[in-house]
Amino acid sequence: MTKAQERLLEPARRARLRAVAPFSKFRVGAALEAADGRVFTGCNIENASYGLTLCAERVAIFKAVSEGARRFRRLAVVADTPRLTPPCGPCRQIIWEFCGNVEVILANLKGKTSSQRMKKLFPQPFDASSL
Ligand code: THU
Repeated sequence: MTKAQERLLEPARRARLRAVAPFSKFRVGAALEAADGRVFTGCNIENASYGLTLCAERVAIFKAVSEGARRFRRLAVVADTPRLTPPCGPCRQIIWEFCGNVEVILANLKGKTSSQRMKKLFPQPFDASSL
């Protein structure tokens, strides 16, 4: 992990503690670094109708976009799982459309980490350039 990558882990861990996950009990935190250095965090927020649940990644992205950030450097995702938790399919679409080929850092609470670019997680994307 570089310093820049590590910088996102603590905010993502803290955001995870704010997860509202009474149904799955699966808490996820995300931290998204904008090109201007601002860091936006997100946690998963579940809903009794289940399908309205928002993942931590999308909460972080929508918070950032609503605050005027449109260019991003990296996204960290933290969960308490032995196998690192990658973004779900719908989140990959949203990450790709709003953040492009950003670095995606995955971490658990035991110090296990990985880093890869979005292109690897989301090959052959459908996006505005396909329309
Ligand atoms: N979840 C996230 O917030 N991010 C992920 O990358 C994977 C899944 C949430 C959605 C739901 O609240 C819970 O984790 C279980 O799927």
